[in-house]
Amino acid sequence: MSFDHFDYKGVRFIQKVHSEKSISYVENELKVLDDDIFNVTYPKSGTNWMIEILSLIKHNGDATICQSIPSKERAPWQEIVEFQEQEANLTQPRIITSHLPHQLFAKSFFKSKAKIIYTMRNPKDIIVSLFYFAKIVCIFKEYESFQQAIEDIVKGNALYGSWFDHVKGWMQMKDDSRFFFITYEELLKDPRGSVVKLCKFLGKQLDDSQIDSVVKHSSFSSMKENKMSNWTHAASDMLDHSKGTFLRKGVSGDWKNHFTVAQSEYFDKIYEEKMKDLNMSFSWE
Ligand code: A3P
Repeated sequence: MSFDHFDYKGVRFIQKVHSEKSISYVENELKVLDDDIFNVTYPKSGTNWMIEILSLIKHNGDATICQSIPSKERAPWQEIVEFQEQEANLTQPRIITSHLPHQLFAKSFFKSKAKIIYTMRNPKDIIVSLFYFAKIVCIFKEYESFQQAIEDIVKGNALYGSWFDHVKGWMQMKDDSRFFFITYEELLKDPRGSVVKLCKFLGKQLDDSQIDSVVKHSSFSSMKENKMSNWTHAASDMLDHSKGTFLRKGVSGDWKNHFTVAQSEYFDKIYEEKMKDLNMSFSWE
């Protein structure tokens, strides 16, 4: 996948969607509020799913807002050029999305009581998701081969830089009480349990039926039907809807249908090398 890019402090961004000014605004000027909730991920890790869950928790399971306001306005990406306009319309507690690596994150966050939810996903499934995503995003040039998608992640040339650095950077906060770490795979395996844990972390008390409603309305099938969450509202010069859907499969382990044995072994070897100093293990297929 290639796109018109620029690098900011060694991390790759898209021209026009991002600018040096928009990233620097977040880094140096954004005033983080103590009740802000940040939804942080590496792309294709379940960002939109978490937007839906957090929006529903904020509104006590009531889906009205999720069904009337597009996800990108409910929980805007803080590093994009449009963010400052969107920021003005957010109600507290603000839900703010970000793919920024730890080292570029809002400096004022670190002096605040705001919270971060970091969702991580099996990088092999991220590669598959990204491979299909590149086909539908108009400003991306499609990958010529699946191997190219693997190389983009291995070499850190993908949008937002290296997946390995992103995870290692954010894991520095794993013992911080303002940081909640969850995996896409855990969300899939135990959606209700995950919502309960998130509510506890956010200090939100929802009753059983409200929790059921969060789980129901954030399910893959509900989100796929919801025009405010499935990105069908995106203009056709942004997403080519004839080439695929944003909510594609929503499963874990799809990498097994795409990686050859050699590609899988190649990736595992690099993973071992790059992640050996992290001392954390993750459960995914
Ligand atoms: P696939 O392409 O593997 O289907 P992001 O929001 O970070 O861009 O991630 C997109 C991925 O999350 C896509 O993965 C998408 O289908 C998946 N996804 C979105 N909502 C989901 C849900 N409710 N349940 C499971 N997966 C979901």
